[in-house]
Amino acid sequence: MTESVCVAAELEDLLDPEPVPGCRIEWLDAGAATPAGPHVAIVPLLSRRIGEAELAGLPRLRIVANCAVGVDNVDLAACAGCGVVVTNTPDVLTDATADLTMALILAVARRLGEGQRLIERGAWQGWDPRLLLGLELRGATLGIVGAGRIGRAVGRRAVAFGMRLCYTDGTAQSDFELETGALRLALDELLARSDVVTLHLPSTPETRGVIGRRALAAIRPGALLINTARGDIVDEPAVIAALEEGRLGGVGLDVFAREPDVPAALVRHPRAVLLPHLGSATTRTRRAMAALAVRNVIAVLAGEPPVTPVAPR
Ligand code: GLV
Repeated sequence: MTESVCVAAELEDLLDPEPVPGCRIEWLDAGAATPAGPHVAIVPLLSRRIGEAELAGLPRLRIVANCAVGVDNVDLAACAGCGVVVTNTPDVLTDATADLTMALILAVARRLGEGQRLIERGAWQGWDPRLLLGLELRGATLGIVGAGRIGRAVGRRAVAFGMRLCYTDGTAQSDFELETGALRLALDELLARSDVVTLHLPSTPETRGVIGRRALAAIRPGALLINTARGDIVDEPAVIAALEEGRLGGVGLDVFAREPDVPAALVRHPRAVLLPHLGSATTRTRRAMAALAVRNVIAVLAGEPPVTPVAPR
């Protein structure tokens, strides 16, 4: 019997015509429910929940090859309980995501959104030495919350802009410290010292809402907050309140708690630069993510170890 693999339809143009040799591909539309049936593999996008209910309908499933580095849409414990391997797409998206993070840091620090809107409104009166003065990155401190692959790649870029670095991480990153001079701090100290705070944590029960009222009370007054990780690691109402009170000088957000909904208070705030989850959105990276997800499927169906497995948490 030809085996069947479900693949998110949005990936079709990024993949070879026969991505998993010998298998039938069922293209899965974004709006469609996850099908039940004898599928042996699924390649979902990060917007598709794969939990106990979905697994119950997929008794022959061997792998969930998430086409994303984050796996918060997948119930890892339930997969482990059914003997289903979970994989993600790390490394291939590190540079694209770090570039986008730097773009947001620059956009918020130098007030690009406000400048563009001023011109769009036809309200620019000409060069003025007081117009839209921003934060100069040279000499400013960047606090990296989570110094994994993407956090470290952001740090290396920020050093080239003359920023000083501090970071939080469960493990000391000694090579990163040697390379960049970054200082490992506890979260509250990092928040108190940083001119710009950038978030690079996965979304887990421990990290959800970690940037909430308490953390925002510890943040340096007027600091800028950047999030290209997951929306739910910040408490959105608390961030909005801090922005409105001026405790935060600006925010650059690529991710939101309930995508694609973006709170209206953020949309109308002049100091918010908002993007529709574009961290890994380059042609090269998206092709590499799709190809890596499929390589994981091919490996597992051939009885080999997955290329980029995710350990159950
Ligand atoms: C994007 O957010 C990803 O997790 O790959």
